[in-house]
Amino acid sequence: MKILSAEGLAKRYGDKMILSNVSFDIEQGEVISVIGPSGTGKSTLLRGLNFLDPPTEGSVYFKGGKLSKRNIDEARRKMVMVFQSFGLFANMDVLRNIVIGQTDLLKKSVPEAENRARELLKTVGLSEQARHFPHQLSGGQKQRVAIARCLAMDPDIILFDEPTSALDPTMVGEVTAVIRNLAKSGMTMLIVTHEMDFAKNISNRVFYMDEGGIYESGTAEEIFGDPQKPKTRAFIFKIKTFEFSVKSRDFDFIAMLNGIDDFCFRYAVDDEKANRLRLIAEELALNIVTPQFGECELRISFPESRDAYYVSVTYPGEDRDAIETGDNLSAALVKNAAKRIARVHDAEKGVNTFDIEV
Ligand SMILES: Nc1ncnc2c1ncn2[C@@H]1O[C@H](COP(=O)(O)OP(=O)(O)OP(=O)(O)O)[C@@H](O)[C@H]1O
Ligand SMILES: [Mg+2]
Repeated sequence: MKILSAEGLAKRYGDKMILSNVSFDIEQGEVISVIGPSGTGKSTLLRGLNFLDPPTEGSVYFKGGKLSKRNIDEARRKMVMVFQSFGLFANMDVLRNIVIGQTDLLKKSVPEAENRARELLKTVGLSEQARHFPHQLSGGQKQRVAIARCLAMDPDIILFDEPTSALDPTMVGEVTAVIRNLAKSGMTMLIVTHEMDFAKNISNRVFYMDEGGIYESGTAEEIFGDPQKPKTRAFIFKIKTFEFSVKSRDFDFIAMLNGIDDFCFRYAVDDEKANRLRLIAEELALNIVTPQFGECELRISFPESRDAYYVSVTYPGEDRDAIETGDNLSAALVKNAAKRIARVHDAEKGVNTFDIEV
């Protein structure tokens, strides 16, 4: 059964388009992690789904019903949200924090609500703290109370916006453990997180957000093990890059070489590798590709998770090997310095790309 669906969601602030054309279905029991660089609209998406900040276009369906300002209050009881900043009522003790929604919104009797609250405190490991006030709790404990308070509504889905990012590293584990248990119990969850191991272990699906939407989605194995698109790959493998655009034959090659030196310095590339990177980039961009094609895009990348560096050079035109048709001495130098040279021609875009491992 579909719990939550988005159809063509878009969000604009002023003339800035933050999200466009976001669509997905979340089935009951799914645990979906939302990951991606800062500022790519992850929080905006969550706030759009429960109308805290309504989308500018598109529709949200909760259990088949289209959400609107009119029915959102009712839907929010069953589509609850956990924030980075716990949001507990400071003037109420822990028990009361969990009871209040049940009595006021679900119209339960106080004893019934208290029983349920005590049950939930047990599941989040805080039975002893029932009579404590929020200021007497650690961050991890506060977040567990916040989760218990959400669970008291018997939600159909929980939306988490970085539930652990305000916590001391020592407390992350106690909160992720609670969420992991919820996943085991079949709770449907959409979780924005920067904790990659957590996302990898807990989710059946992952949304990678970039370029104003869900840029790539797949199973946790697909996204973390074999991401298909360049930005996903760069994010997952923590790839550091240096990019330089050559627009004409008399480009500023000193700026390019300085950029490469900075990159090598910043990532402590050893001297021997740095020399080869510099030589390959210089020969290709300055002496091989640009003289023949008048322009190119240079990219040097270094995935933190692997001990390898890559130089890629993209240039326009037909399927043509610039190294073979270029200056002989330069070509020999590049071949000598590279571990592996591959070239692909993308007929659709009309570009060739050398992919060189150093
Ligand atoms: N109320 C607002 N008014 C104008 N711009 C906003 C508003 N809220 C967010 N933005 C902009 O929307 C973009 C996306 O922000 P959002 O907070 O959704 O990113 P995020 O993916 O959650 O980032 P992070 O990982 O840092 O939490 C940012 O460029 C942000 O500056
Ligand atoms: Mg955010």
